[in-house]
Amino acid sequence: MIKIRGFTKRYGDLVAVSGLDLDIEKGDVFGFIGPNGAGKTTTIRFLATLLKPTSGQAWINGYPVTSRPDDVKRSIGFMPDAFGVYDGMKVWEFLDFFAAAYGIPKSKRLAIVSDVMALLDLTSKRDALVQTLSRGMQQRLCLAKTLVHDPPVLILDEPASGLDPRARVEIKALLRELQRMGKTIMISSHILSELADLCNKIGIIEKGKLLAAGPVKDVVASVRQHRVIMVEVTGEAEKCEIFLAHDPRVKNLTAAPPQFRFEFQGADAEVAELHRGMVTAGVPVLWFREVEADLEEVFMTITKGIVA
Ligand SMILES: Nc1ncnc2c1ncn2[C@@H]1O[C@H](COP(=O)(O)OP(=O)(O)OP(=O)(O)O)[C@@H](O)[C@H]1O
Ligand SMILES: [Mg+2]
Repeated sequence: MIKIRGFTKRYGDLVAVSGLDLDIEKGDVFGFIGPNGAGKTTTIRFLATLLKPTSGQAWINGYPVTSRPDDVKRSIGFMPDAFGVYDGMKVWEFLDFFAAAYGIPKSKRLAIVSDVMALLDLTSKRDALVQTLSRGMQQRLCLAKTLVHDPPVLILDEPASGLDPRARVEIKALLRELQRMGKTIMISSHILSELADLCNKIGIIEKGKLLAAGPVKDVVASVRQHRVIMVEVTGEAEKCEIFLAHDPRVKNLTAAPPQFRFEFQGADAEVAELHRGMVTAGVPVLWFREVEADLEEVFMTITKGIVA
C-alpha cells in the first residue's frame, strides 16, 4: 500500500533522511518510531506530497507520489503534527468544508459528515465552534477530517501528542476501529510504548536512517540475543530447578520458587520441546511463557547502536 525506495532529503549540508526503503502492506498498522529530529515528519510530508525529495520515490495505493500527487492525495488521509482549526466554524461546517474540498457533492456530504462525527464521537459537538473544543476534541476533529473522503490509507504524524492519558486511550481505540474497517495506517511517535499494542509492524528511524523494520516480534527478536522465559510450578520446585539447570541452553537461571526465570537460546520448536520435556519429567508446570521484550528497551538498544 505504501512503498518507499531510496528516499533521501537534504537541507543544505544536513541529511534529514538518507536512502530510506519501506514497505507497508494493506491492513498494516505501521508505527514509525524515532527520537526528535530523526526524520519522521520529513518522510511523512514526502508521502503526503508536501515535500520534494532530493532523490528517491514512493508509491501509495500504486500511485507514484511525485508524478501523481492528486491521486495520492485522494488515497490518503493525512494528519499533520501541527494543525490549526479555523476559528468561527462549527464542527459540522469544518468537516463539510473539507468534504467539499474533496469534491464530494452536497447531496452526499450531510450523510458523510454525520457518519464521521458518529464514528469519532463528535455528534454532541456538532454545533460547537471549533476553537471552543478542548485539545483532545480538536485532535479528534482533525482525525475526522482525514476520513471524509474515505481514503484507504491514513498517515498520522504524532496524533496523540499533547493529549492526556484518557484522550490517548480514546485515540487508540479509534485507530483500532479504523484498522477493523480495513484502513492501512502509518502512525509516527517518539513514544514507543504508545504504539506497542496498536501496531503489527514498526520501523525505527534515527538520524535519517531506518535502523530496523518489520513485524514487532521480528524487530524485537533481532535486537534480543536470547529469549527470556518464565515458569511457575505448583510444587516440586527443586525438580524444576534441577531440570532447568541441566539444560545447556538455559542461562542465568533465577529461582524464586514457585517461579523461575531464565534466558534461553533456541527457536520456537526448541522452546516447545523444553516445555514438553519438563512436563514429561513430571515437573508440575502451572504456566510457562516467554517474556516479551519491553519495547522501550528494544528502542534504547537499537538507537544506541549496540545491536549484535
Ligand atoms: N525545512 C527544514 N529546513 C532545514 N532543516 C529541516 C527542515 N525540516 C526539518 N529539518 C531537519 O531535518 C531533521 C529531521 O526533522 P523531522 O522534522 O523530520 O524530524 P522528526 O523525526 O519528525 O522529529 P520530531 O519527533 O521532533 O517531530 C531535523 O534535523 C530537522 O532539524
Ligand atoms: Mg516530527
